[in-house]
Amino acid sequence: MSQTLIPIPSGDSADVTQADVMEADVMEADVMEADVMQADGTQAAVEAAHLLQQGVARANEAIAMLQRGAQQLRERLGQLQATNALLETQNRQLQSESARLIHENARVSEENTRLQAQNAQLMENQARFEAQLAALGAELERERAHNRELTRLVENLHFDLLAENVPMLALKMAMQLTGAEVGLFTEADGDDILARVGFEELENFLEEAVYDYSRRTAQSEEPTVENDAKQLPDGAGLVNLAALPFAIKGQMSGVLLLANKRNGSFTDAECQILLSIGQHAGLAMENAKLHRQLLEAYTSTVAVLADAIEAKDAYTRGHCEDVSRVSVEVARRLGVVDGALEAVRYAALLHDVGKIGIPDGILLKPGKLMPEEFSIIQKHASIGRDLINRVPSLAHIGEAILHHHERFDGSGYPDGLDGENIPLASRIIGAVDAFDAMTSPRPYREPVASSEAFEEMRRCAGTQFDPRIVAMVTEVLVEAEVEKERIP
Ligand SMILES: [Fe+2]
Repeated sequence: MSQTLIPIPSGDSADVTQADVMEADVMEADVMEADVMQADGTQAAVEAAHLLQQGVARANEAIAMLQRGAQQLRERLGQLQATNALLETQNRQLQSESARLIHENARVSEENTRLQAQNAQLMENQARFEAQLAALGAELERERAHNRELTRLVENLHFDLLAENVPMLALKMAMQLTGAEVGLFTEADGDDILARVGFEELENFLEEAVYDYSRRTAQSEEPTVENDAKQLPDGAGLVNLAALPFAIKGQMSGVLLLANKRNGSFTDAECQILLSIGQHAGLAMENAKLHRQLLEAYTSTVAVLADAIEAKDAYTRGHCEDVSRVSVEVARRLGVVDGALEAVRYAALLHDVGKIGIPDGILLKPGKLMPEEFSIIQKHASIGRDLINRVPSLAHIGEAILHHHERFDGSGYPDGLDGENIPLASRIIGAVDAFDAMTSPRPYREPVASSEAFEEMRRCAGTQFDPRIVAMVTEVLVEAEVEKERIP
């Protein structure tokens, strides 16, 4: 450090001491140092001021930044507050929704529990119903089997119309259905036995006791059932008994008496079924009677008509029976059975019934017919059909009569039918009729020999006649001739 000289004060120099000098030196040095320091301090102060200014500027900038930041923060805060308010609103809504859902959930859960309980109940019910259904199904199947058996038996009853054993059929049916070991079918007064099974060995007094049930049932017209063996006559070995009335058209006709049912007692249901069988048996018996009457009326109608044809034309006498007999045999050999075979029989007997409507002058004219006369003769086929159609029991043979003059090649009358379009019965009758006509005498010619007639038929097979039927007619007639020769 440079030493600043401090001037010596003027005045009394004698008073100045060395110490003073030294002090002065020091002081000068201090001054000098102070000057230096002052200079340094100024510089520093300037610099500091400058720095301070910079600091202030930066601080101001910082403050501005802070203020902007604060503004942004306030704005952000505002946004956040708004968001927060929104969130709070949403939160409240969610809480409310959550509470509602919790409540709903509890309700659903409760409903679910209730439904589960209901479901369990339903399943239990279903299982019970299924078990009941299975039981009902089994019962139904038993009923069906029983009904099938009943139907089969009732059908047999009606099928056996002409067997005249309807009471026995009804009795056996009733025994089979109930499991009764013995039975009787008596007339309404209880005295006349129509059918009996297993009651043969009763002593007279027991038999009378049993018949008494029939009479009582007939009088009351109500079923009599006794399932207590003690109430039944002693000694007959009876354990139970059921007597059922049956009526035809409201009139008591008989009593069905069953006894010793295996496996238990006679039930009301069985009585109802047996009453129904009684009705069927009654109807079957009535039908059998009516059928017999109808058959008798039918046969007598046919006989009257056949007589009428023969009365009209003496030359045809016996002709219809011959044609009928041979036609039935031919039809039988061709496989015709039952009602169809009967139709052939009656159609053959009555095939010329229409001749009743042809004037005698033409029908009985000896010699050849004029064409117009022949066309009148031809009408006998349709007249016959119309006549027969008026008899309901014969109407089914009308077509066979109408077509008995058709020819296999279609050149016949009245409709020109050909081949198998001609009813089989008509084809048979036509062939047999032609053979019979050829071999029968006529006022204007001698009968043709059988061998010639066979030859003529063979010649006309395929044109006038069905070849199959010609072969069969020949077979039947040749056999008949051989038989005739064997037994003259
Ligand atoms: Fe004829």
